[in-house]
This record gives sequence, structure tokens and C-alpha cells, in this order.
Amino acid sequence: LKARLTVDRDFVISDLDRRVFGTFVEHMGRCVYGGIYEPGHPTADEDGFRGDVLELTRELGTTITRYPGGNFLSGYNWEDGVGPSDQRPVRRDLAWFSTETNQFGTNEFMKWSKKAGIEPMFGVNLGTKGPDEARQFLEYCNHTGGSALSDLRKSHGFEKPHDIKFWCLGNEMDGPWQICHKTAEEYGRVALETAKVMRWVDPTIQLAACGSSHRNMPTYGSWEYQVLDHCYDEVDFISLHTYFNNNADSASEYFGVIELLDAFIKEVAAICDAVGAKRRSHKKIMLSLDEWNVWYKTHKIEHMRKPGWPEAPPLIEEVYNAEDALIVGGALIAMLNNADRVKTACLAQLVNVIGPIMTETGGAAWRQTIFHPFALASKYGHGRVLRGVVDSPSYSAKAFPEIPYLYSTVIDNPADGTTTIFALNRSLSDSMEVDVDLRGLGKERSLVAATEIHHSNLKAVNTKDAPNTVAPKTNSDVVVDGEKLRIKLKPASFNVITTK
Ligand code: AHR
Repeated sequence: LKARLTVDRDFVISDLDRRVFGTFVEHMGRCVYGGIYEPGHPTADEDGFRGDVLELTRELGTTITRYPGGNFLSGYNWEDGVGPSDQRPVRRDLAWFSTETNQFGTNEFMKWSKKAGIEPMFGVNLGTKGPDEARQFLEYCNHTGGSALSDLRKSHGFEKPHDIKFWCLGNEMDGPWQICHKTAEEYGRVALETAKVMRWVDPTIQLAACGSSHRNMPTYGSWEYQVLDHCYDEVDFISLHTYFNNNADSASEYFGVIELLDAFIKEVAAICDAVGAKRRSHKKIMLSLDEWNVWYKTHKIEHMRKPGWPEAPPLIEEVYNAEDALIVGGALIAMLNNADRVKTACLAQLVNVIGPIMTETGGAAWRQTIFHPFALASKYGHGRVLRGVVDSPSYSAKAFPEIPYLYSTVIDNPADGTTTIFALNRSLSDSMEVDVDLRGLGKERSLVAATEIHHSNLKAVNTKDAPNTVAPKTNSDVVVDGEKLRIKLKPASFNVITTK
């Protein structure tokens, strides 16, 4: 196969918001307990945080992490998770039918995020709770002092405010599975009033309203419109959630989900703009893709709920294979190509629960296949996204009528002079020669690094005993000639090529 990719240094989609390299930590299964937090683990530090997981989190390069849920959020009392740990209540969590000990809560997460080097993204419970709890929680977290709740935080050992800037107004409120699911009308009103009082407590925060839980929801489209019709002026973001599947067990169909993600993003942006147009507003609502990943092998109720209200049972511990890594790489390209609207995104979740990092309680931690495209994207995803013109043969699938074999994006980083091409070859059988023209980006270029993720067996996985089966390798088929590059991509491969 042959394809061409052309960019021009002056044709810019947008600066890239590094918060698109976010992840998600929910009180679910072994994400918190046995994942990021495991006192007594051989690598645990003085706070009980697993050192091996912290190290892998830093290597993953995640920039922001959403907490504490997820469906868990809609039944959560923030007060249960603060203060002396021996006085914290043990509760039944109705989202995952588990027992929650509350030994880990807001202050532990804030300590962990400092050690991990990430920014926190918090959610307020708009299921069983409402605006009153939300404003109180925000005051506890962000107010300097001299009020009951900020002084309570200080009495818990946190003199300085946490200064949490990004807040989600509930979680998946359109989903009937949600604890206290709401109609768009009910949610739009409560999101508006919650946003209003939260801004009065702290005008520096950014707020995200819940969009649809996925693109196939029966209320998709009308949900976004009605919700924003209420709260457009008070929120900055609307969320999108999406989980990809290969239920058809066909890799070429599976690649179509990347096109569907691109469509999803553009559709939600269009709906936001329709509400803005009706209001004659100059404001643009940005998109927070704050849950996305591959999730289908463990998407059955028996993987989500275990009998007997166990503490931190293994739930949805999806094992990722080589083709899943290509999908994650492709989804990251889709986000970058929509960098003018997608400003935050969270790979769901971080560890064990549909996570790029897997652990054994008491034992090892390792990188799943999907770890690698994410880490590469975060490592090289700095600067401005350029508008690429792609000329590639394509194929058609049930999932999407026209799927170009080449899927790519180009990031230019004026800060260090590098330009990086991310390219996915979606042909399962053919390698691809790509001619790249980096117009106006400087004739004295040379290769910095060329990395590929490829495995001849698309079902290959990483395990505790074979953790590097699917791992990045050097692509030595790259020729740089000034602003022109010729790159050979293996069939079914995700590639990252940096020049300077
Ligand atoms: O990430 C797992 C679950 O998926 C989250 O709790 C929920 O928001 C979504 O349905």
C-alpha cells in the first residue's frame, strides 16, 4: 500500500491540552485497594501507596486523574472518606455491590496525586446528593480557612487548600443503572444549580456536565441538548464516555470504532454549538472524554458484581491484547485531531479495573499492551496539532462505510523544535509506504526516534510472567530527507516518528 500525508506549519488545528492524557481511579474492584493503595505491600510507602504502581503511573505519563467514580460517585458521601481512618464508616456500595472501608478518601488521593505528579479531577455526587453536598465538599477542599469546613480540613492535617480545579457534575446521569438516574430535565436543572453554587464558593474552577454514557444511548443527542439548554452559561465542558468492543471478533471491523469516536466527538461539538447558536452565545463548550477505553471481554454483570458484598473484589480485570493496543493508539489519534474541542480525556481506568497497569495483590505490577500507545502519545504529545491532509486507500466495513488504511496526526512542538507523526496502518495484510511532507517545518531535519507497536499475533497479551510480549520496538524503515520523510509501516501497526 502507498499513502501520503501532508502538513503545513501554518495550518494548525489547535494547541494540545495535555489534560487529554488523563486516567481514572474509581473505588471499584482493585483499582484503589490492591491497585494504587496497598499498605503492607513490599513496595508500599509510608502512606500505603504502592511504589511499583506509582512508578508505572509516572512512566505512563498521565497528566490528570478523575476520582472517585464512576458509578460509585452517585452513592458516595465525601465525609466518609476524611478524618481519622479508624473512625471512618464501612458502607455498602450499591454501584458495585461491594463493601467500602473508606480507608482511602479525598486527602489520601490528593497525597497520591502529588506523588504521581498528576492534577486531580474530582466529581460531586448528584445521585443520592445534590448542590448542598457539592458546595460543602468544595469548601472543604478549596477554601483557605476560617470557615467550618475549611477548618475541618485543617484539623485533618491539610493546612493548605487542595485547590482542585476540575470538577465533574455527577456521573452518567442518563444511565438507568446509575444510583438515582435522572431525566435530562431533572439533571439539567440540578447541574445548573450545582454549578452556580460551586462557582460562588470558588470562581476559579472548571465544571463538566454529564453528557451521554455512550453514543448508543436512546437519549443521545437530545440529552446533551436539553442538559445544556439549562446549564450552558454555567459549565465549561460536557462529558463523553465510550468503551470500544470487538464483539464481532474481526480486526478490520474493530478499527471502525476509531471513526465512530471521531464522529461522536464532532456530533457532540455540533450539539453544543447548536445550543450556543440558539442563545447567540460566543462561548464554546469544550469536550471532556472522561471515560474511554476498550472494554468488552469483561462487560457482563458477573464481572461487575460478586456475591457476598466483598471488599475490593477483582472486577472487570480486562486483559488487553495487541489489537486493543492499536485501537487505543487510534483513539488517541482521533482525540488529537479534535484537539480544538477535546481538552480533557481519561483512559478508564488506571490500574486493574480495565487498566493499562495490572497488579497482583501482594505481588508484581506490569504493563498491559494498551499502556504503550498511551505512554508514547503522552511522551511525544506536546505542542500544536497540525491539520493533516491524508491520501490513502481505504476499505469499507459494517461499522463505518469508508475507513482509510492510514490514520494519522502530526504534532509540532515549537518549544523543542520536534515534529512527531503518529500513524496507524489499519491494513491487516499489507505494509504501507507513507510519503510525508512537513511543509515549512525546516529543511535541516533528522530523525530523533521511530517506534512501532506491532505483533504478528493480534491476540498476544502481556502477563505477569511474560510482561513484554507486546512492547514498543524501533522502526528502522524511516528515511528523512529535509522536510520529506518516507516511512514504512508494518501491517496492523501503531507508529510514532519524531524528527527535529
Ligand atoms: O469505568 C467503569 C464504569 O463504566 C464507571 O463506573 C461508569 O461511569 C461507566 O459505566
